[in-house]
Amino acid sequence: MLTVIQLPGAFLILLTIMLGVLSDPQIVLLRQDCTRQTRIRVEMSVFMSNYNRTFDEIRRQLSNNQNLHFATTVETDVYGMVQCRNYLSSADCIACLDFARVQVRRNCPDNDGGHVIYKGCFLRYESYNFYTQSLLVSFEASAGICNTNQSKLQAAAFKPVVEGIMTDLVAATPKINGYFAATTRPVSSGGVTSKVYAAAQCVETISQKDCQSCLTIAYNNLQNCPPGSEGSSADAGCFLRYSDASFFADNIIINITPYLRGGTSSSKTTIIGAVVGVLCILLILATRAGLSKLQGPVTYSFKDLKSATRSFSEDSKIGEGGYGDVYKGILKNGDVVAVKKLSVGTSKAKEDFESEVKLIININHRNIIRLLGWSRRGSELLLVFEYMANGSLDTFLYGVKRGILSWKRRVDIILGIARGLVYLHEQFHKCIIHRDIKSSNILLDDEYQPKIADFGLARLIRDDQSHVSTRFAGTLGYTAPEYAIHGHLSEKVDTYAFGVVVLEIVSGRRCTNLNIKSDNGSLLEHTWNLYSDDMHSDLVDENLDPNEYNTDQVKKIIEIALLCTQSPTSMRPTMSEVVVLLTNDSSIKQKPGKPTLF
Ligand SMILES: *[C@@H]1O[C@H](CO)[C@@H](O)[C@H](O)[C@H]1NC(C)=O
Ligand SMILES: *[C@@H]1O[C@H](CO)[C@@H](O)[C@H](O)[C@H]1NC(C)=O
Repeated sequence: MLTVIQLPGAFLILLTIMLGVLSDPQIVLLRQDCTRQTRIRVEMSVFMSNYNRTFDEIRRQLSNNQNLHFATTVETDVYGMVQCRNYLSSADCIACLDFARVQVRRNCPDNDGGHVIYKGCFLRYESYNFYTQSLLVSFEASAGICNTNQSKLQAAAFKPVVEGIMTDLVAATPKINGYFAATTRPVSSGGVTSKVYAAAQCVETISQKDCQSCLTIAYNNLQNCPPGSEGSSADAGCFLRYSDASFFADNIIINITPYLRGGTSSSKTTIIGAVVGVLCILLILATRAGLSKLQGPVTYSFKDLKSATRSFSEDSKIGEGGYGDVYKGILKNGDVVAVKKLSVGTSKAKEDFESEVKLIININHRNIIRLLGWSRRGSELLLVFEYMANGSLDTFLYGVKRGILSWKRRVDIILGIARGLVYLHEQFHKCIIHRDIKSSNILLDDEYQPKIADFGLARLIRDDQSHVSTRFAGTLGYTAPEYAIHGHLSEKVDTYAFGVVVLEIVSGRRCTNLNIKSDNGSLLEHTWNLYSDDMHSDLVDENLDPNEYNTDQVKKIIEIALLCTQSPTSMRPTMSEVVVLLTNDSSIKQKPGKPTLF
């Protein structure tokens, strides 16, 4: 068996004696990298204490359950993931983890993200939730690690069997609960029958489809390895290995035939046993629940997106934004996506495109629309987002779908938007000011959860990266006066716009063109007039049944909205303060004054 051991020998010997078997944590490096351009933003000792807590917790989980080979956890901005190959003993798994957690920090001392992939285990940490990523496309292309020493088995016999077993594993593993399979297949050469051993594994938090594509890529990287006697390949979401020598115990071998289309494999399979850890299955069911179907960043081909949107036809158009039109696209694999065609003026903006996209592609929050990838051809820039069948919030408030949203849904939507903004302002590693929060930029998913769209683009399109900008990127009615008039930009510009959106959600009215003469047609002014006359209940959307809502809650939400529109330097709260106000049970202590109006 292979042994590239970098652990203190005494430790291993001790383990060997304790377990009475040969211990091998398989610390053979396949690939490692750091998350680029992300620096640790807190004091090193604080970071290390969070880092230690994350991996101590993962270690605790893996030690407590001998059958567990996969764990994730997050402690204060350190998201961690460890996966051991299922054929490692629990002690080997822990030994591999202990080694990896030190090594990855040595490799990436200044970065708040990095990973190491060994034959025996995989460890990754990031400052964001990466659990559903399967490919590390932003890192260098992965190569398989191939032992080019020819197999003792004859190449002519060995090669096709390796190809057959790997093809079948790539097809079967995504369909198996726990995403793990180890199997063997006989090879006859020179009158002697021997075996090929192979195993495949995916990270349990990715989708079946992503497991499949990750393994396909891993296999491509190994294709030229046979007749080399053994090969391994891995990416963020998967691992694939074959050998002419056994590298796992017989009792974990399973019959993969039932998982292959039509039930037949490309050559006869040796069936030795079938054991699938029940605990594994339970774990996957538990960890998958609540995770949305996400992919790692992808570069799409312009041609594919063009055909997905039927050459950007009028029929496919689903929206017109400040930064360009949006089309519904149906990709070859059947996935429905939203494709935004950017109208980018300056060449500087084009230069910035990739770095900006790389920044926003890491934004991962349930209340923010997910950027799936991009494409670029000459001056034409396309962004591919997840598609939201329910469309934008404005159509539910004063458009064709008005009256559909219950009061409870409206309150959930308000809270969701606030949480998304807190993430953009405070929790993502770079503060992103949206600058154009409005109801038509809030999309609703199938469960009416809000998702903020069009974020991060302002910096890309406008060349005003400084604090004081000359042109403003907002929309009349939502834009804070200090930004519209003086160009003063801060996170609180988004707080102001959020307050206006809240009033639209409560009233079911557009923020401008109210057709109420006395109030200049502004919803904000109208609200203030009602509120100061203690008539705020009149603001509530007449489509709502008064039995649905509680007037105290209505008052509180209107007060929060009005606070959001106060002067930025005095009473206007940050978005995290807004979330606190929305979620605690007490009433608003600081009463709002007259909003700052245009
Ligand atoms: C983190 O754990 C390592 C051992 O794994 C230890 O050497 C280090 O002092 C710990 N750091 C903090 C800040 O807890
Ligand atoms: C390849 O074979 C040579 C000669 O038998 C041996 O010394 C070497 O360690 C082998 N390489 C690997 C990677 O197994």
